[in-house]
Amino acid sequence: MSYDLIIANGTVATATDTFSCDIGIRDGRIVALGHGLGGATETIDASGRLVLPGGIDSHVHISQPSGEGIVMADDFESGTRSAAFGGNTTVMPFCMQEKGVSLRETVKAYHGLADGKCHTDVSFHLVLSDPTEQVLGQDLPALIADGYTSFKVFMTYEGLALADYEMLQVMSVARETGALVMVHAENYDAIRFLTDRLERGGSIAPKFHGTSRPIPVEREATHRAISLAELIDVPVMIVHVSNREAMEEIARARSRGLKVYGETCPQYLVLTEKDMDGLNMEGAKYVCSPPPRDTASQQACWEGLQSGVFQTFSSDHCPFRYDDPAGKLNPKGRTSFRWVPNGIPGVETRLPILFSEGVGKGRISLNQFVALSATNHAQAYGLTSKGSIAIGMDADIAIWDPERELAISQSLLHHGSDYTPYEGIRVKGWPVTTIVRGRVVVRDGVLEGAPGEGRHIARERSRWALQPA
Ligand code: URP
Ligand code: ZN
Ligand code: ZN
Repeated sequence: MSYDLIIANGTVATATDTFSCDIGIRDGRIVALGHGLGGATETIDASGRLVLPGGIDSHVHISQPSGEGIVMADDFESGTRSAAFGGNTTVMPFCMQEKGVSLRETVKAYHGLADGKCHTDVSFHLVLSDPTEQVLGQDLPALIADGYTSFKVFMTYEGLALADYEMLQVMSVARETGALVMVHAENYDAIRFLTDRLERGGSIAPKFHGTSRPIPVEREATHRAISLAELIDVPVMIVHVSNREAMEEIARARSRGLKVYGETCPQYLVLTEKDMDGLNMEGAKYVCSPPPRDTASQQACWEGLQSGVFQTFSSDHCPFRYDDPAGKLNPKGRTSFRWVPNGIPGVETRLPILFSEGVGKGRISLNQFVALSATNHAQAYGLTSKGSIAIGMDADIAIWDPERELAISQSLLHHGSDYTPYEGIRVKGWPVTTIVRGRVVVRDGVLEGAPGEGRHIARERSRWALQPA
């Protein structure tokens, strides 16, 4: 039997096992695992390397409209290129509905931006901001049937926040259709009140972004989202969880038998609120929501990754430039933190940070790393051919040099931002070669793929959601 590609002599890890074997790939799929597989058009020698399922980043924002005059730093070409250099083979961005715009038109528009541009595979979630009768009764169920089997709802942000009544409405559709609901849990009115009060008192520097969204704002919304989901009896994923109190809400719900899942992100492991206290506007580089907290919260998030409060570890890549009129430094000529676009880049650094700080420092095993970075994302969101190394799966593979040591630096990265919030953080372990459906996209740190080779993946219903009757 002959193969298109053999990856030989590596140490392979899945979410459950670590073993030594060669991988035979044909027509984009893994077709053999073993030793002495025979001939191939190409063989990659992975001696001394780890051979892992390619990362799936189930929470990234690319080319989203972000308010008047503000432009996201990545389009689908640069965002997926950066993802590939960071060891990812699939990313899951959002088709974000704006108020008054049809959901169908929204999805069409995002495909117009993404199709033919991507280096990795992509699979869209939806964002619902305007749950009209048409959306609830027609467009959403039809899109879910077409493979957009998850959607995010926001409990904060002007123009995006849903009222509790609307949350219940969209959760009901998820229950009927088997979609997975992702929730951004922060209390909108509380943030507005605190922001107004801070501004009136002249507290406008970026560090007050954190003060305007303290832990109770997130804890209360997490509790409310879970309660609403309980009323409808529908599973829910609480995304970008930053602290112990919100985690406790998730853990308590789960101990009561509710299907509540959790996601955390690198910013809650290695950044703190102190990072937002830079000179002048430097702190704007770290403004994201929920905000980075303190070292006790970092410790809590590590415990959540170890204990299973969190199933997924995503980047929440939401890139803006800093020194740019369309970016974070001087948004629309206004100086208050209120106008700094929320979000930070991180799709390329998510996995090295988790590997180095997690596996390298003995906090999680290599198999937990695989589960948190790939396998659980595939299971949570119905990417049934992705997220593991097994016969029949897509040949989505990242080859890692576990000994490579470096300090993260903007100069090494491939995103469209002009900075990285992780500048200077030392890591050991780096993905050197990324293979998407058997095609080498990045080889030994050099881009080999062309935009357009990545494709959109329509998904099955999540195994973690309710199966529709
Ligand atoms: O600050 C953040 N996280 N921006 C991205 C949008 C979101 O809420 O996920
Ligand atoms: Zn969010
Ligand atoms: Zn996000």
